[in-house]
Amino acid sequence: MKILCGTDLVEVARFKRILERHETSFINKCFTAKEQEICSAKPGPDGAAQSYAARFAAKEACGKALGTGIMSEGIGLTDIEVLSDAKGAPFLELKGKAKEKADELGVFSISLSLTHDGGMAAAYCTMLAERKEQNPG
Ligand SMILES: CC(C)(COP(=O)(O)OP(=O)(O)OC[C@H]1O[C@@H](n2cnc3c(N)ncnc32)[C@H](O)[C@@H]1OP(=O)(O)O)[C@@H](O)C(=O)NCCC(=O)NCCS
Repeated sequence: MKILCGTDLVEVARFKRILERHETSFINKCFTAKEQEICSAKPGPDGAAQSYAARFAAKEACGKALGTGIMSEGIGLTDIEVLSDAKGAPFLELKGKAKEKADELGVFSISLSLTHDGGMAAAYCTMLAERKEQNPG
């Protein structure tokens, strides 16, 4: 088994500016409708910006764990979806090329942790992967 990990840090003010300017095309390019629903429901003046920043960090952290980064090898930002369970704990749903890459690596478990404080948001992603057997010959 192999442990794959990735981390990333994003400035919350960047997303505060994006929301204040109503840059909906950028938001729609980066975040799914479900992610937007989760983030826009966050309370407080910086609640939404913090959660968008943390989710952006999570997508980059996931790209690092997969070894591809994001916006490369056909992996789009919305192929990595950051959702929350009933207790508020975040989890990842991979689609499209991100799912294909995870399957290729033999990923069978993904964990994600988010935090935001002091104007920054961070994400840490861990994946467990079975080494795929090499084809004989
Ligand atoms: C989960 C908890 C540790 C978060 O700590 P915090 O210092 O407040 O916030 P952080 O900035 O470090 O982390 C926030 C992220 O934690 C994650 N999180 C929330 N609930 C979580 C849970 N049950 N398990 C794992 N992660 C969780 C979320 O991803 C959240 O970011 P998001 O809202 O953008 O999705 C804390 O709120 C807690 O212990 N909650 C459970 C108990 C509770 O609700 N107590 C009442 C508090 S007054």
